[in-house]
Amino acid sequence: MRVIAIDGPAGSGKSTVSRAVATRLGLDYLDTGAMYRAVTFAALRRGIDPADTEPVARLARQVEINVDDRKVVVDGIDATIEIRGPEVTRAVSSVAANPEVRRELRRRQQEWAQAHRGGVVEGRDIGSVVFPEAELKIFLTASEDERAGRRSREVLDLDYDTVAADIARRDYVDSTRLTNPLTIADDAVVIDTTGRSIDEVVDLVLSRLPAQEDA
Ligand code: CDP
Repeated sequence: MRVIAIDGPAGSGKSTVSRAVATRLGLDYLDTGAMYRAVTFAALRRGIDPADTEPVARLARQVEINVDDRKVVVDGIDATIEIRGPEVTRAVSSVAANPEVRRELRRRQQEWAQAHRGGVVEGRDIGSVVFPEAELKIFLTASEDERAGRRSREVLDLDYDTVAADIARRDYVDSTRLTNPLTIADDAVVIDTTGRSIDEVVDLVLSRLPAQEDA
């Protein structure tokens, strides 16, 4: 099974680069952040406090999440747009800090890779925890300023300062949580995407692939 793990903080270029790498390699692509956002969306919809550990863990085990290239469907509802909205973004870090939620989503991510015969998987703990045996582990970074700039251009209704503050807060929570924090796996290749084009980064990633043995 061929798994490429791409981790990094918000705005580091993970999604764009991961999609492009998947296309170039003919692999499927999984956005695990969308899964944490989907659980958060389901909790908010049901009036469950995202910080309430037990009910959120139970919900994570029950909720039906369908993430594909274009859409995120949660219990039959198209949540593609809403999972990127400010309410979910504000609450997602506390859902992602829930150890039982992480256990459940890790199980689903591993199942996904089995079913898809590998893939390009992006997130925060993919190389360190979910696929420690990945063929290639990439950790993308970029300066705080560049990350906030990119994200505020994507999210048109939020200004730079609001986006920068949100990213800084999530970086902090994601890096300091007890269960599977955002870390650089020992054997990951770190790529700073500041000032680099998407194509350049994609080529750098592909250049680090181990040589394929002939089948
Ligand atoms: O792209 P952006 O950084 O805005 O976020 P995302 O990749 O959609 O992930 C949203 C949140 O989910 C992150 O801030 C993390 O708290 C969490 N997450 C995680 O804990 N582990 C993952 N493998 C992926 C996301």
